[in-house]
Amino acid sequence: MQQNKPESKKTSESSLESTYMVMPEHTNPRGYTFGGTIMAWVDITAGVVAFRHCRTSVVTASMDELSFLYPVNLGDLVTLKASVNFTSRHSMEVGVKVLAENPITGESSHTATAYLTFVSLDKNGKTLPIAQVIPETDEHIRRFEAGKARYQERLNKRKKRG
Ligand SMILES: CC(C)(COP(=O)(O)OP(=O)(O)OC[C@H]1O[C@@H](n2cnc3c(N)ncnc32)[C@H](O)[C@@H]1OP(=O)(O)O)[C@@H](O)C(=O)NCCC(=O)NCCS
Repeated sequence: MQQNKPESKKTSESSLESTYMVMPEHTNPRGYTFGGTIMAWVDITAGVVAFRHCRTSVVTASMDELSFLYPVNLGDLVTLKASVNFTSRHSMEVGVKVLAENPITGESSHTATAYLTFVSLDKNGKTLPIAQVIPETDEHIRRFEAGKARYQERLNKRKKRG
């Protein structure tokens, strides 16, 4: 059966900012936040953006390499800023910027940036077309073009792997 193309959506319709406080259960004995905890927060935040963009069931197809640039300490506030960067026929890239803030001094550092690809599935597990994203600002357009280049790189890598 032919699926209708979903309506396009503006970047701002699904963009999200969420903040977590690092508690003792999130840290190792040095008081540094576990990388896996931050990755889970990244996945959840990006997933919410993907859901809001599609309003259908979505799954994470991949997360690109993720480097942690600075340690995130016990008690820090971790803010994740996420939005749809790029959409293609059956997938979308969501970018997440991770900032760690000392709540006393207000000092903030850019800890990591992650790019995740989501795919929308129907109730039988069949991929659905993705609503095209409409970038609204110069920054959105820059991210769209960068996302497109990364999408192409991922495709090429998967083709090479076979
Ligand atoms: C993601 C998944 C649905 C892709 O299935 P598939 O049969 O490879 O799908 P298709 O080949 O039809 O590709 C569908 C889209 O996904 C993209 N895609 C597939 N694998 C991908 C990957 N590893 N990374 C990024 N994008 C991927 C394709 O490029 C395509 O998008 P496009 O049309 O915009 O180019 C399937 O691999 C899956 O269900 N994986 C498990 C997901 C999961 O459990 N995630 C964790 C919990 S949410």
